[in-house]
Amino acid sequence: MKLSVITTALLCSFPSMILAKNYQSLIWPIPHSVSWGEHDLELDSSFHMIGPSQQELTRAMQRYSSILVKEHWKPVQHPFREEASKRQHDQTLQTLEIHVDDLDVPLDLEVDESYTLEIPLKHKATLKSATVWGAIRGLETFSQLVQQKSSRKVKDINSHSEDDNVEESDAFDIFNDKDTRKKMKRPTSLDQLVIPKVPISIDDAPAYSHRGLMLDTARNYYPVKDILRTLNAMSYNKMNVFHWHLTDSQSFPLKLDSLPELADKGAYQFQGKRLVYSKKDIERIVKYARDRGIRVIPEIDMPAHTGSWALAYKDITTCTGRYYMEPDNDWEHRLAAEPTTGQLNPIKAETYEIVSKVIKEIATLFPDSHYHGGGDEPVYRCWDKDASVTDYMKQHNKTHDDLLHQFLDNELGFISKAKKTPILWEDAVTNNNLPLPKDVVLQVWTNPAQLAVKKGYRIIASNYNFWYLDCGHGGWGGNDTSYNEQVAPEIPSDVQTVLDKHDLADNYRPSNWGGSGGDWCSPFKSWQRVYSYDPAFNLTKEQTKSVLGGEVALWSEQSDAAALDLRLWPRAAAAAEILWSGGKDENGKTRDIGDAMPRMFDWRYRLVHRGIAAEPLQPLWCGQNPHLCDATYPAALL
Ligand SMILES: *[C@@H]1O[C@H](CO)[C@@H](O)[C@H](O)[C@H]1NC(C)=O
Ligand SMILES: *[C@@H]1O[C@H](CO)[C@@H](O)[C@H](O)[C@H]1NC(C)=O
Ligand SMILES: *[C@@H]1O[C@H](CO)[C@@H](O)[C@H](O)[C@H]1NC(C)=O
Repeated sequence: MKLSVITTALLCSFPSMILAKNYQSLIWPIPHSVSWGEHDLELDSSFHMIGPSQQELTRAMQRYSSILVKEHWKPVQHPFREEASKRQHDQTLQTLEIHVDDLDVPLDLEVDESYTLEIPLKHKATLKSATVWGAIRGLETFSQLVQQKSSRKVKDINSHSEDDNVEESDAFDIFNDKDTRKKMKRPTSLDQLVIPKVPISIDDAPAYSHRGLMLDTARNYYPVKDILRTLNAMSYNKMNVFHWHLTDSQSFPLKLDSLPELADKGAYQFQGKRLVYSKKDIERIVKYARDRGIRVIPEIDMPAHTGSWALAYKDITTCTGRYYMEPDNDWEHRLAAEPTTGQLNPIKAETYEIVSKVIKEIATLFPDSHYHGGGDEPVYRCWDKDASVTDYMKQHNKTHDDLLHQFLDNELGFISKAKKTPILWEDAVTNNNLPLPKDVVLQVWTNPAQLAVKKGYRIIASNYNFWYLDCGHGGWGGNDTSYNEQVAPEIPSDVQTVLDKHDLADNYRPSNWGGSGGDWCSPFKSWQRVYSYDPAFNLTKEQTKSVLGGEVALWSEQSDAAALDLRLWPRAAAAAEILWSGGKDENGKTRDIGDAMPRMFDWRYRLVHRGIAAEPLQPLWCGQNPHLCDATYPAALL
């Protein structure tokens, strides 16, 4: 067997100080089973990883070796209860040996990502997995176990300097000014690294096979580097599907060889630049993702959400270029779910010629076995604005649902011709009751998962009440005068009495006064809310088998590169743990959010340290004093 050996630089080390209680649980997402010992095991200056030669694995070993050297993680938690004497050990860890049963298993839905990690009090640790993809998950876990030895040395931070230049991004270092950063030496060796609580034995596997994050790059554009950074953060959280919502009514940023006009005219043009993704960009993103065990599933939304197509091909769309509502402002009379309008014309042959070309080319650009065909929020009134459609309906005695069905049948035909498994948003099945083929995977966002499962479909859970990360930033419609209320409107006392009696008062609060804040899916989904979502809620054991997994979603009306990390992290990490570790612990108990808090707190800082500008969750004091900020009297103190 060919072996590749990844070594890192050297230097010596000295004995460790006191470590915090509870640190043993600082792995995110929490493994299926872990057992801990009591010793510190130092990394030897000659520490290296040995594994079979396979390109994704070799690159992962290089990546994680470099993370070990650069990271030197110091847990944020102060010692909760100091453990006086720690048994020292003179053994050092020299190698991590990686064994993979089958190096050729492709990355796909239901691929085996399990692994075991044995770290005995010896010079050699062992990571075993069935596939390369499982080994990559195990390497992530290994990296999280390694810490910098604690030190009692403390000195003042220099948080200000004369020529503080704010042009350079500060996202990766939230504490130090630019001068200090320049002077600071990044660690270059494995000096001072230790794995606490050895011997460690970990047996781990994901609860769900599809653990995704959806990013909308059409409402606002994200440069490639921001997508790559997101893929990094996903891999730290053992997420394995990047669902790329590429196009929408506002823009078509994907440059296709077969139909270049779609992006030439439909992509955003901004200050002299066309905001597009080239074929090269796609290749780079797909490879970068694959190296991290992440599948990239493209979504080209249709037949609704296609206004941008009209800039190149006006004839294949209906109701484009209009205000999205009628003058009566009645939601029932909308022409689109949001500005701007445009929907593919389902009765034109030319529509299908273009759609088939788009699907054919995208299927070759993205090697994954699955393809997302969109299909959400069809608005029939938009079709009614086009005489060719209404005439056709009369002549052929067709309903709107018939037209939608006809469209989706054609689309699904193109997807299956490209040899892909289709994914669609649930709407056509659960709202319109269309009998689509059962091999379609439904992404469920509004209805209970049970509805689609009972109809015999496999699902991806993305309930907007839990996993839409864009919610809670206020309405984005212009001239929204509803915000202008100087005084809380009065509810007549007899109405209030009835509301109180039925516990409905919250539903009637105006948005500015303890109410919803004005956007359709308010409030903001806190990490606790995200963590509380059980994709298997109210499903029988048998029905749960139809849940492939889930996805958190970031719709980008109010997000772009400036907000990306803050919107996603660490909340997406909360979903990642539910998807990897399951909504219930090994005893079948719903995961204890109180137990998760200190770990989540530490993980957020660790993400920041790894270059992800994740949002803060609590005052630093709370993280340093675990459980003392808990909302109820902490079990740890009873
Ligand atoms: C039109 O179709 C409906 C069912 O969709 C049917 O009941 C009706 O008889 C049809 N009308 C004509 C004129 O064919
Ligand atoms: C803003 O909305 C208010 C209230 O509907 C309306 O009176 C006003 O004309 C609108 N302003 C603009 C610039 O459209
Ligand atoms: C749970 O499922 C049952 C049917 O299996 C249904 O009647 C009930 O409404 C569901 N509960 C919730 C809270 O969705």
